[in-house]
Amino acid sequence: MSKLSDLPPHMKLFARLLDEVKSDYRPPLPEIHDVPVAFYLDDDWLARERFELFAGYPIIVGHETMLTQAGEHFTHDHLGKPLLIVRGRDDHIRAFYNVCRHRGMRLAQNTEVMRKPSFVCPYHHWAYDLDGSLKNVPLSESFDGVNLSCRGLKEVPCEIRHGFIWVQIGETKPLDLNSHLGEIDADLDAFGTGDQHVFRQTTTTKKANWKLIVEAFQDGYHVVRLHQKSVGPLFMDARASMDRVGNNLRAAVARAFFPEILNAPPEKWDDRNHVSFAHYIFPNTIIVFHPDYISHMGLFPQGVDETVVVHTCLIPKEPETEKERDHWERAFDIIENGVFQAEDFFVCENAQIGMASGANETLLLGAQEYGIALFHDILRDEMGPFRQSPS
Ligand code: FES
Ligand SMILES: [Fe+2]
Repeated sequence: MSKLSDLPPHMKLFARLLDEVKSDYRPPLPEIHDVPVAFYLDDDWLARERFELFAGYPIIVGHETMLTQAGEHFTHDHLGKPLLIVRGRDDHIRAFYNVCRHRGMRLAQNTEVMRKPSFVCPYHHWAYDLDGSLKNVPLSESFDGVNLSCRGLKEVPCEIRHGFIWVQIGETKPLDLNSHLGEIDADLDAFGTGDQHVFRQTTTTKKANWKLIVEAFQDGYHVVRLHQKSVGPLFMDARASMDRVGNNLRAAVARAFFPEILNAPPEKWDDRNHVSFAHYIFPNTIIVFHPDYISHMGLFPQGVDETVVVHTCLIPKEPETEKERDHWERAFDIIENGVFQAEDFFVCENAQIGMASGANETLLLGAQEYGIALFHDILRDEMGPFRQSPS
Protein backbone atom coordinates (compact mmCIF):
# COMPACT_ATOMS: atom_id res chain seq x y z
CA MET A 1 0.00 0.00 0.00
CA SER A 2 1.27 3.54 -0.80
CA LYS A 3 2.31 5.62 2.15
CA LEU A 4 0.77 9.08 2.36
CA SER A 5 4.23 10.63 2.30
CA ASP A 6 4.90 8.95 -1.07
CA LEU A 7 1.86 10.49 -2.74
CA PRO A 8 2.30 13.29 -5.27
CA PRO A 9 1.35 16.71 -3.90
CA HIS A 10 -2.11 16.87 -5.44
CA MET A 11 -2.99 13.44 -3.99
CA LYS A 12 -1.99 14.62 -0.52
CA LEU A 13 -4.79 17.16 -0.92
CA PHE A 14 -7.07 14.32 -2.03
CA ALA A 15 -6.16 12.51 1.22
CA ARG A 16 -6.90 15.63 3.24
CA LEU A 17 -10.31 15.97 1.59
CA LEU A 18 -11.02 12.33 2.52
CA ASP A 19 -10.13 13.09 6.15
CA GLU A 20 -12.24 16.24 6.16
CA VAL A 21 -15.29 14.45 4.74
CA LYS A 22 -14.84 11.49 7.13
CA SER A 23 -14.60 13.72 10.19
CA ASP A 24 -17.10 16.29 8.87
CA TYR A 25 -14.46 18.99 9.31
CA ARG A 26 -14.70 22.25 7.39
CA PRO A 27 -11.79 24.66 7.43
CA PRO A 28 -12.45 28.02 9.07
CA LEU A 29 -12.48 31.14 6.95
CA PRO A 30 -9.18 33.00 6.77
CA GLU A 31 -9.08 36.62 7.71
CA ILE A 32 -10.76 38.40 4.80
CA HIS A 33 -14.52 38.03 4.66
CA ASP A 34 -15.89 41.41 3.66
CA VAL A 35 -14.61 42.73 0.33
CA PRO A 36 -15.34 46.30 -0.79
CA VAL A 37 -17.23 46.35 -4.10
CA ALA A 38 -14.86 49.13 -5.22
CA PHE A 39 -12.23 46.39 -5.57
CA TYR A 40 -14.10 45.35 -8.74
CA LEU A 41 -14.89 48.85 -10.01
CA ASP A 42 -11.72 50.91 -9.58
CA ASP A 43 -9.98 51.86 -12.85
CA ASP A 44 -6.70 52.87 -11.20
CA TRP A 45 -6.48 49.60 -9.29
CA LEU A 46 -7.10 47.66 -12.49
CA ALA A 47 -4.29 49.60 -14.21
CA ARG A 48 -1.99 48.50 -11.37
CA GLU A 49 -3.17 44.90 -11.69
CA ARG A 50 -2.48 44.91 -15.41
CA PHE A 51 1.00 46.30 -14.91
CA GLU A 52 2.06 44.43 -11.77
CA LEU A 53 0.32 41.09 -12.32
CA PHE A 54 -0.40 40.64 -16.01
CA ALA A 55 2.85 42.16 -17.26
CA GLY A 56 4.97 40.93 -14.38
CA TYR A 57 4.45 37.17 -14.55
CA PRO A 58 4.34 34.34 -17.11
CA ILE A 59 1.00 34.18 -18.90
CA ILE A 60 -0.33 31.31 -21.03
CA VAL A 61 -1.27 32.43 -24.55
CA GLY A 62 -1.88 29.03 -26.15
CA HIS A 63 -0.97 25.38 -26.35
CA GLU A 64 1.85 24.07 -28.51
CA THR A 65 -0.48 21.73 -30.41
CA MET A 66 -2.11 24.84 -31.93
CA LEU A 67 1.07 25.25 -33.99
CA THR A 68 2.18 21.95 -35.50
CA GLN A 69 4.10 23.06 -38.62
CA ALA A 70 6.75 25.66 -39.37
CA GLY A 71 5.12 28.96 -40.29
CA GLU A 72 1.93 28.35 -38.33
CA HIS A 73 1.18 31.38 -36.19
CA PHE A 74 -1.52 33.39 -34.46
CA THR A 75 -1.81 36.87 -33.04
CA HIS A 76 -2.70 37.64 -29.43
CA ASP A 77 -3.75 41.11 -28.27
CA HIS A 78 -5.51 40.38 -25.01
CA LEU A 79 -2.61 41.49 -22.80
CA GLY A 80 -2.83 44.98 -24.31
CA LYS A 81 0.24 44.45 -26.51
CA PRO A 82 0.15 43.11 -30.07
CA LEU A 83 1.85 39.70 -30.00
CA LEU A 84 2.68 37.21 -32.73
CA ILE A 85 3.29 33.58 -31.77
CA VAL A 86 5.07 31.52 -34.44
CA ARG A 87 6.53 28.05 -34.93
CA GLY A 88 9.87 28.38 -36.71
CA ARG A 89 11.67 26.16 -39.22
CA ASP A 90 13.81 24.91 -36.33
CA ASP A 91 10.56 23.75 -34.63
CA HIS A 92 10.87 26.32 -31.84
CA ILE A 93 7.87 28.41 -30.88
CA ARG A 94 8.73 32.08 -30.40
CA ALA A 95 6.76 35.17 -29.42
CA PHE A 96 7.36 38.57 -31.01
CA TYR A 97 5.78 41.97 -30.93
CA ASN A 98 3.50 41.93 -33.98
CA VAL A 99 5.05 45.22 -35.00
CA CYS A 100 7.08 46.08 -38.09
CA ARG A 101 10.47 47.58 -37.25
CA HIS A 102 10.14 50.18 -40.02
CA ARG A 103 7.22 52.35 -38.98
CA GLY A 104 5.31 50.15 -36.57
CA MET A 105 2.65 48.58 -38.78
CA ARG A 106 0.97 45.47 -37.44
CA LEU A 107 2.37 42.53 -39.41
CA ALA A 108 -0.23 39.76 -39.09
CA GLN A 109 -3.95 40.29 -38.50
CA ASN A 110 -5.25 36.75 -37.90
CA THR A 111 -6.34 35.63 -34.45
CA GLU A 112 -6.97 32.15 -35.87
CA VAL A 113 -3.98 29.94 -36.69
CA MET A 114 -2.66 30.47 -40.25
CA ARG A 115 0.48 29.32 -42.05
CA LYS A 116 2.94 31.53 -43.92
CA PRO A 117 6.55 31.09 -45.10
CA SER A 118 7.43 34.60 -43.86
CA PHE A 119 5.78 37.80 -42.67
CA VAL A 120 5.56 40.64 -45.19
CA CYS A 121 4.48 43.99 -43.81
CA PRO A 122 1.48 45.27 -45.78
CA TYR A 123 2.75 48.87 -45.70
CA HIS A 124 6.13 48.90 -47.49
CA HIS A 125 6.74 45.15 -47.73
CA TRP A 126 9.60 44.69 -45.30
CA ALA A 127 9.79 40.91 -44.92
CA TYR A 128 10.66 38.91 -41.81
CA ASP A 129 11.63 35.26 -41.55
CA LEU A 130 9.90 32.91 -39.10
CA ASP A 131 12.71 33.46 -36.56
CA GLY A 132 11.99 37.19 -36.65
CA SER A 133 15.05 38.17 -38.68
CA LEU A 134 14.62 40.90 -41.28
CA LYS A 135 15.21 39.26 -44.64
CA ASN A 136 14.13 41.77 -47.28
CA VAL A 137 13.76 45.53 -47.51
CA PRO A 138 12.48 46.89 -50.85
CA LEU A 139 14.78 49.63 -52.22
CA SER A 140 17.14 48.95 -49.35
CA GLU A 141 19.64 51.47 -50.78
CA SER A 142 17.26 54.19 -49.57
CA PHE A 143 18.30 53.24 -46.02
CA ASP A 144 21.98 53.62 -46.79
CA GLY A 145 23.93 54.03 -43.56
CA VAL A 146 21.22 52.43 -41.40
CA ASN A 147 22.12 49.14 -39.73
CA LEU A 148 19.19 46.99 -40.86
CA SER A 149 20.68 43.80 -39.42
CA CYS A 150 19.45 44.72 -35.94
CA ARG A 151 15.91 45.41 -37.19
CA GLY A 152 14.55 41.92 -36.65
CA LEU A 153 11.23 41.59 -34.85
CA LYS A 154 11.37 42.39 -31.15
CA GLU A 155 11.18 39.11 -29.26
CA VAL A 156 9.09 38.56 -26.13
CA PRO A 157 10.32 36.04 -23.54
CA CYS A 158 8.52 32.77 -24.28
CA GLU A 159 8.77 29.23 -22.94
CA ILE A 160 6.92 26.00 -23.61
CA ARG A 161 6.18 23.94 -20.54
CA HIS A 162 3.52 21.26 -19.97
CA GLY A 163 2.35 21.96 -23.53
CA PHE A 164 1.44 25.56 -22.75
CA ILE A 165 2.99 28.59 -24.45
CA TRP A 166 3.96 31.07 -21.73
CA VAL A 167 5.02 34.66 -22.41
CA GLN A 168 6.00 37.52 -20.16
CA ILE A 169 5.53 41.01 -21.56
CA GLY A 170 7.00 43.06 -18.71
CA GLU A 171 10.72 43.60 -18.72
CA THR A 172 11.26 44.17 -15.01
CA LYS A 173 12.15 40.54 -14.22
CA PRO A 174 12.97 37.37 -16.15
CA LEU A 175 10.40 34.72 -17.04
CA ASP A 176 10.93 32.13 -14.29
CA LEU A 177 8.46 29.24 -14.46
CA ASN A 178 10.20 27.22 -11.75
CA SER A 179 9.54 29.75 -9.06
CA HIS A 180 6.20 30.75 -10.60
CA LEU A 181 4.73 27.24 -10.55
CA GLY A 182 6.48 25.62 -7.58
CA GLU A 183 4.69 22.36 -6.78
CA ILE A 184 2.07 23.05 -9.48
CA ASP A 185 4.79 21.97 -11.91
CA ALA A 186 4.42 18.40 -10.58
CA ASP A 187 0.62 18.61 -10.81
CA LEU A 188 0.67 19.61 -14.48
CA ASP A 189 3.12 16.78 -15.08
CA ALA A 190 0.82 14.31 -13.30
CA PHE A 191 -2.19 15.47 -15.32
CA GLY A 192 -0.18 15.33 -18.55
CA THR A 193 -1.25 18.67 -20.02
CA GLY A 194 1.75 18.43 -22.34
CA ASP A 195 0.34 15.26 -23.93
CA GLN A 196 -3.06 16.78 -24.72
CA HIS A 197 -4.37 18.26 -27.96
CA VAL A 198 -6.42 21.37 -28.48
CA PHE A 199 -9.88 20.30 -29.60
CA ARG A 200 -11.75 23.61 -29.48
CA GLN A 201 -11.07 27.14 -28.36
CA THR A 202 -13.56 29.95 -27.84
CA THR A 203 -12.87 33.59 -27.11
CA THR A 204 -15.71 35.55 -25.53
CA THR A 205 -15.93 38.94 -23.87
CA LYS A 206 -17.75 38.99 -20.56
CA LYS A 207 -19.04 42.14 -18.85
CA ALA A 208 -17.46 41.28 -15.52
CA ASN A 209 -14.29 42.03 -13.60
CA TRP A 210 -11.63 39.35 -14.12
CA LYS A 211 -11.45 38.66 -10.36
CA LEU A 212 -15.14 37.75 -10.22
CA ILE A 213 -14.50 35.09 -12.85
CA VAL A 214 -11.51 33.66 -10.95
CA GLU A 215 -13.71 33.56 -7.85
CA ALA A 216 -16.48 31.61 -9.62
CA PHE A 217 -13.97 28.78 -9.98
CA GLN A 218 -12.74 28.87 -6.35
CA ASP A 219 -16.21 28.60 -4.86
CA GLY A 220 -17.45 25.23 -3.63
CA TYR A 221 -20.61 26.81 -2.23
CA HIS A 222 -22.39 27.35 -5.55
CA VAL A 223 -21.73 24.07 -7.34
CA VAL A 224 -24.86 22.06 -6.46
CA ARG A 225 -27.01 25.23 -6.40
CA LEU A 226 -26.18 27.32 -9.45
CA HIS A 227 -25.44 24.18 -11.46
CA GLN A 228 -28.42 22.18 -10.17
CA LYS A 229 -29.71 21.54 -13.70
CA SER A 230 -26.32 20.80 -15.27
CA VAL A 231 -23.27 19.41 -13.46
CA GLY A 232 -24.38 20.05 -9.86
CA PRO A 233 -25.70 16.50 -9.28
CA LEU A 234 -22.23 15.16 -10.14
CA PHE A 235 -20.75 16.74 -6.99
CA MET A 236 -21.08 16.58 -3.21
CA ASP A 237 -22.36 19.74 -1.59
CA ALA A 238 -19.63 22.14 -0.46
CA ARG A 239 -16.93 19.52 -0.11
CA ALA A 240 -13.77 21.00 -1.49
CA SER A 241 -10.27 21.36 -0.07
CA MET A 242 -7.73 23.89 -1.21
CA ASP A 243 -4.01 24.44 -1.00
CA ARG A 244 -2.24 27.66 -1.58
CA VAL A 245 0.95 26.86 -3.51
CA GLY A 246 2.98 30.05 -3.70
CA ASN A 247 0.68 32.40 -5.58
CA ASN A 248 -1.32 29.54 -7.07
CA LEU A 249 -4.25 27.51 -5.78
CA ARG A 250 -4.99 23.81 -6.01
CA ALA A 251 -8.57 22.76 -5.27
CA ALA A 252 -10.00 19.25 -4.99
CA VAL A 253 -13.79 19.19 -5.28
CA ALA A 254 -15.50 15.96 -4.18
CA ARG A 255 -17.60 14.32 -6.87
CA ALA A 256 -20.74 12.34 -6.09
CA PHE A 257 -18.86 8.99 -6.00
CA PHE A 258 -16.44 10.29 -3.36
CA PRO A 259 -18.20 8.71 -0.32
CA GLU A 260 -17.66 5.25 -1.86
CA ILE A 261 -13.90 5.47 -1.23
CA LEU A 262 -13.84 7.00 2.23
CA ASN A 263 -12.16 3.88 3.63
CA ALA A 264 -10.44 2.67 0.46
CA PRO A 265 -6.63 2.56 0.17
CA PRO A 266 -4.81 5.09 -2.06
CA GLU A 267 -4.61 2.53 -4.88
CA LYS A 268 -8.37 2.95 -5.32
CA TRP A 269 -8.32 6.75 -5.39
CA ASP A 270 -8.97 8.26 -8.81
CA ASP A 271 -7.88 11.88 -9.25
CA ARG A 272 -10.23 12.44 -12.21
CA ASN A 273 -13.40 10.58 -11.18
CA HIS A 274 -13.64 10.83 -7.40
CA VAL A 275 -12.75 14.50 -7.38
CA SER A 276 -12.42 17.30 -9.90
CA PHE A 277 -9.23 19.24 -9.45
CA ALA A 278 -9.46 22.92 -10.33
CA HIS A 279 -6.23 24.88 -10.34
CA TYR A 280 -5.72 28.61 -10.31
CA ILE A 281 -2.36 29.58 -11.77
CA PHE A 282 -1.47 33.12 -10.88
CA PRO A 283 -2.56 35.58 -12.11
CA ASN A 284 -5.17 34.67 -14.75
CA THR A 285 -5.40 30.95 -15.44
CA ILE A 286 -8.03 28.42 -14.40
CA ILE A 287 -7.58 24.76 -15.28
CA VAL A 288 -10.39 22.30 -14.55
CA PHE A 289 -9.53 18.62 -14.83
CA HIS A 290 -12.76 16.90 -15.89
CA PRO A 291 -12.87 13.07 -15.90
CA ASP A 292 -11.75 12.72 -19.53
CA TYR A 293 -10.74 16.18 -20.77
CA ILE A 294 -9.36 19.48 -19.51
CA SER A 295 -10.77 23.01 -19.60
CA HIS A 296 -8.17 25.74 -19.64
CA MET A 297 -9.32 29.34 -19.23
CA GLY A 298 -7.20 32.44 -19.67
CA LEU A 299 -8.76 35.65 -18.30
CA PHE A 300 -7.64 38.96 -19.79
CA PRO A 301 -9.04 42.18 -18.30
CA GLN A 302 -9.92 44.89 -20.82
CA GLY A 303 -11.66 47.17 -18.32
CA VAL A 304 -13.01 46.96 -14.77
CA ASP A 305 -16.19 45.37 -16.11
CA GLU A 306 -14.86 43.64 -19.21
CA THR A 307 -12.80 40.48 -19.47
CA VAL A 308 -11.81 38.41 -22.47
CA VAL A 309 -12.12 34.72 -21.63
CA VAL A 310 -10.24 32.25 -23.81
CA HIS A 311 -11.53 28.74 -23.11
CA THR A 312 -9.49 25.90 -24.55
CA CYS A 313 -10.69 22.30 -24.49
CA LEU A 314 -7.78 19.85 -24.27
CA ILE A 315 -8.39 16.19 -25.09
CA PRO A 316 -6.06 13.18 -24.85
CA LYS A 317 -5.76 12.56 -28.60
CA GLU A 318 -7.08 13.92 -31.88
CA PRO A 319 -10.46 12.37 -32.74
CA GLU A 320 -10.07 9.73 -35.45
CA THR A 321 -13.71 9.01 -36.24
CA GLU A 322 -16.90 11.04 -36.56
CA LYS A 323 -18.21 9.26 -33.48
CA GLU A 324 -15.22 10.40 -31.42
CA ARG A 325 -15.54 13.93 -32.79
CA ASP A 326 -19.25 14.02 -31.90
CA HIS A 327 -18.44 12.84 -28.39
CA TRP A 328 -16.00 15.71 -27.81
CA GLU A 329 -18.30 18.25 -29.53
CA ARG A 330 -21.08 17.31 -27.13
CA ALA A 331 -18.76 17.42 -24.10
CA PHE A 332 -17.45 20.83 -25.15
CA ASP A 333 -20.94 22.20 -25.82
CA ILE A 334 -22.17 21.11 -22.38
CA ILE A 335 -19.28 22.67 -20.49
CA GLU A 336 -18.82 25.81 -22.60
CA ASN A 337 -22.44 26.74 -23.30
CA GLY A 338 -24.44 24.82 -20.71
CA VAL A 339 -22.20 25.44 -17.69
CA PHE A 340 -19.63 28.22 -18.14
CA GLN A 341 -21.56 30.66 -20.33
CA ALA A 342 -25.12 30.04 -19.16
CA GLU A 343 -24.32 29.65 -15.47
CA ASP A 344 -20.86 30.76 -14.22
CA PHE A 345 -20.36 33.77 -16.51
CA PHE A 346 -24.06 34.63 -16.25
CA VAL A 347 -23.71 35.13 -12.49
CA CYS A 348 -20.41 37.01 -12.87
CA GLU A 349 -21.97 39.52 -15.29
CA ASN A 350 -25.01 39.99 -13.10
CA ALA A 351 -22.95 40.34 -9.91
CA GLN A 352 -20.93 43.03 -11.68
CA ILE A 353 -24.14 44.97 -12.42
CA GLY A 354 -25.22 44.49 -8.82
CA MET A 355 -21.95 45.77 -7.42
CA ALA A 356 -21.95 48.82 -9.66
CA SER A 357 -25.49 49.71 -8.47
CA GLY A 358 -24.30 50.97 -5.09
CA ALA A 359 -26.78 48.74 -3.24
CA ASN A 360 -23.96 47.00 -1.36
CA GLU A 361 -20.72 48.48 -0.09
CA THR A 362 -19.10 45.09 0.35
CA LEU A 363 -19.53 41.52 -0.72
CA LEU A 364 -19.53 38.83 1.89
CA LEU A 365 -17.63 35.55 2.02
CA GLY A 366 -18.72 32.64 4.22
CA ALA A 367 -16.66 29.63 5.27
CA GLN A 368 -17.67 27.72 2.12
CA GLU A 369 -15.97 30.46 0.09
CA TYR A 370 -12.60 29.71 1.63
CA GLY A 371 -10.90 29.45 -1.79
CA ILE A 372 -11.95 32.99 -2.68
CA ALA A 373 -10.46 34.26 0.57
CA LEU A 374 -7.18 32.51 -0.33
CA PHE A 375 -7.27 34.24 -3.73
CA HIS A 376 -7.67 37.58 -1.99
CA ASP A 377 -4.74 36.74 0.30
CA ILE A 378 -2.60 36.19 -2.79
CA LEU A 379 -3.67 39.49 -4.36
CA ARG A 380 -3.03 41.35 -1.11
CA ASP A 381 0.42 39.77 -0.72
CA GLU A 382 1.29 40.89 -4.26
CA MET A 383 -0.21 44.37 -4.29
CA GLY A 384 -0.83 45.32 -0.68
CA PRO A 385 -4.24 46.11 0.80
CA PHE A 386 -6.79 47.57 -1.61
CA ARG A 387 -7.07 51.34 -1.45
CA GLN A 388 -9.83 52.99 -3.39
CA SER A 389 -8.69 55.78 -5.71
CA PRO A 390 -9.93 59.23 -4.77
CA SER A 391 -12.86 59.98 -7.08
S1 FES B 1 5.79 49.98 -41.70
FE1 FES B 1 6.24 47.95 -42.29
S2 FES B 1 7.34 48.14 -44.09
FE2 FES B 1 6.94 50.15 -43.51
FE1 LIG C 1 -19.41 26.99 -11.36
